[in-house]
Amino acid sequence: MAAATEEEEEEGPSLPGPPIGRRAVCSRPYFVVLMVFAHLYVLNVLGLLLFVHISSDDGGGGGETAGPAQDSNPAPPLPLPQGSSRSLALPRLEGIKVGHKQRLELVPNKVHSMKTLSLKPLLFGVLSLEEFKQLNIRDFHKYMGSQKVKMSDLVRNSQHTWLYQGEGAHQVMRSIRQRVIHLTRLPPEIVEHSEPLQVVRYDQGGHYHAHMDSGPVFPETACTHTKLVANETAPFETSCRYVTVLFYLNNVTGGGETTFPIADNRTYEEMSLIQNDIDLRDTRKHCDKGNLRVKPLQGTAVFWYNYLSDGEGWVGDLDEYSLHGGCLVTEGTKWIANNWINVDPNKRRQLQFQDEMARYTNKEEEDQNEWTVDKSYSHVHVEL
Ligand code: OGA
Ligand code: FE2
Repeated sequence: MAAATEEEEEEGPSLPGPPIGRRAVCSRPYFVVLMVFAHLYVLNVLGLLLFVHISSDDGGGGGETAGPAQDSNPAPPLPLPQGSSRSLALPRLEGIKVGHKQRLELVPNKVHSMKTLSLKPLLFGVLSLEEFKQLNIRDFHKYMGSQKVKMSDLVRNSQHTWLYQGEGAHQVMRSIRQRVIHLTRLPPEIVEHSEPLQVVRYDQGGHYHAHMDSGPVFPETACTHTKLVANETAPFETSCRYVTVLFYLNNVTGGGETTFPIADNRTYEEMSLIQNDIDLRDTRKHCDKGNLRVKPLQGTAVFWYNYLSDGEGWVGDLDEYSLHGGCLVTEGTKWIANNWINVDPNKRRQLQFQDEMARYTNKEEEDQNEWTVDKSYSHVHVEL
């Protein structure tokens, strides 16, 4: 204080003009105030930088179009979409361009590579699903022998059965479901409440003519999976399979490719599928004339979107380009498994379904707890 006073006293008289300005600028209180503001400013800037850093770190999981990093080199982090069914969002992966490669970590410390095969439909191929090499095809064979299997008709010539993947299912079935959740980045509750795994076997001479896995979206059409819950009396019913994940379970000696006859066509006209007596949907005769064929290789998979986006983060119209089929198996046997992810294009109905399923699951857990916490009879042994 003394120094300041001295300073003021010293400078005061020597200034000819109005003294206030200089005195205020050089005074200690002014300096202190200035420093306080300067510090506040710096803190603000630092805070802002920190905020930007934190929000860019977790930004990938929340967006509706969140997909794996578009760079082909680093394995992207895999935040899983979460949240209550009210805020249910449907992330859709980005294809970028045909041939674009992405690396995924579907299980810790294991890199899988994924390649865009077509944009119409949005179709990806996934390599190195080693766990499928561990599946014993003979077990499926035996299982199918003991099951009622659906036999062929004109459209397809194959046998199939369904395998449960829900709570308490075999660990291999559970892990396949987990991989599908990671692969598609869809909300786990949607994947968990979708159809079971369908295992299909084609013997030599087997095929599946080109078809859509899903039906078109009309107001008078209900989805099979939400129909009961939505309690609607729609005259038509269809499978609403937003995504198909098709796993190849073995190597096929001859034929058996999966064909996408009009993938990435510039335009789509139903009439152009049949020309000069050549029906491109006929997978027994004309598989070689289609636009895209995927060779079945054990431990690989393809997955695609059967519906377009509605532009608002939900399911839009059926994607006509998702037409596909199984080519004639000319030699040996072909085994595949399908995981279909069911989503109702009508968001309200899907939310209602999710809520109902959540309620049902909670109720089941409560019932279970009633059994397990009641230990009063634990000493009683009952002979069965
Ligand atoms: C199917 C299907 C193709 C194939 O099972 O729905 O389209 O390659 N399969 O077997
Ligand atoms: Fe299909």
